[in-house]
Order: sequence, then C-alpha cells, then structure tokens
Amino acid sequence: MSMTQDELKQAVARAAIAHVPNDCIVGVGTGSTANFFIDALAEIKSRIRGAVASSEASAKRLQGHGIEVLSLNEAGTLPVYVDGADEITRHLHMVKGGGGALTREKIVAAASRKFVCVCDASKLVDVLGKFPLPIEVIPMARSYVARELTAMGGQPKLREGFTTDNGNVILDVHGLSILNPVELETTLNNIAGVVTNGLFARRAADVLLLGTPDGVQTLV
Ligand code: 5RP
Repeated sequence: MSMTQDELKQAVARAAIAHVPNDCIVGVGTGSTANFFIDALAEIKSRIRGAVASSEASAKRLQGHGIEVLSLNEAGTLPVYVDGADEITRHLHMVKGGGGALTREKIVAAASRKFVCVCDASKLVDVLGKFPLPIEVIPMARSYVARELTAMGGQPKLREGFTTDNGNVILDVHGLSILNPVELETTLNNIAGVVTNGLFARRAADVLLLGTPDGVQTLV
C-alpha cells in the first residue's frame, strides 16, 4: 500500500526526534510537517525542558500538549531547530514561508546550532523558485518593494487577507529561477522595507530528513 503525503510527513517528523538531546530546549518550526513533529515531541516531553516556537500557531499546539513554550530571549542558543520547507535542494538551501512564518523561523534557525529539515519527497528540487518566494514586507513599503521585485524579473503578488505574526504583509514572488540562492537572499535583504525573504541559504539546513515511499532518507 502506498503511503500518503501525510504519512511521509509523519515518518520524517518522528525520525527528527532522534536529533533532540535530553534536557534541551528545542526550536520548533511551523506548518503541517512541523505539526507532526510537535505531536511526536509530546510523546517524549518528559525528557525535554521546553520549546521555542517560530509562530503563534506552533506555540498554541505545543502548549496544548503541555509542553512549556519559552521566549527565544530567555532560552539562548538552541541545540536544534526542526522545521519543514516549501522547497529544498541537495545543497540544503530552502524556500520557506508558505505558512507566512518565515521571519520568526529564520530568527530561531539562526539562533540554533543544528537545523534539521523535515520534508516529504515532493519538496526536493534541482532549482529553487517554482514555489513562489514569500517575502515579508513592512506594509507602507508594499508597492515600492513590489516595483523593485518586478524590475528584478519577478512577479510579486500580495497574499490577500494575510497579516504575519509581526503585523506585516507577504508578497509571493512568482517566476524566479533561483540559480544563486545565497546571493539572491542577500540582495533581497537589502531592499528597504523587506523584513525577511523566504530564501534560507546563508543559513541552510544541516540535515534533511526526506520522507520517501522507501523510507526516511538522510541528506547532510
Ligand atoms: C511556514 C513554512 C513551512 O515550513 C513550509 O510552508 C512547509 O509547510 P508544510 O510542512 O505544511 O508543507 O515555511 O512558514
């Protein structure tokens, strides 16, 4: 019997538990795969001190399982951050932010020693950019940033009716073929009004747990 996409996500989420040291504060991502990780974490909650969440939604789910949620400021450097991705390459460069949590995700990832990415096999790509690149923007800069992105060859679309946890808007940029993600991440960061872009290349994942019908593959 073939596994569903949810079963693949659940399998990688469970495999990520092996990367969680005893007595630690674990960094927790956002999205459907991260949700499976949170549910797996609940089963071993007695051996962790707590979690730092990358979104209000993940914080609620963690608390619902009785897992203590700490602020990043009180937690300090985290040993491990576990999160999904919208696209990932074999270099472990990612596009993230489909769920709109990219800014807090990038902050918690930056503050973690190890980034474990958990994905089903559909997320692995040769070149990033088929999935529209999410960019979190200060609301007053929306039109200006959209013009800059258009000048760079992208087609930005405002994510309608969506406000981030930080009170900002998201532009989803279509039509980019991202051949140099490290360089593009830096370039986008330099546009005034951009808070965060969804390229996670300067701080890539350290480990990819990829859910395939033949089992969980580990790429490093
Ligand atoms: C949220 C993210 C998620 O990691 C990404 O959207 C993947 O989500 P899912 O596990 O539901 O496919 O970056 O901002």
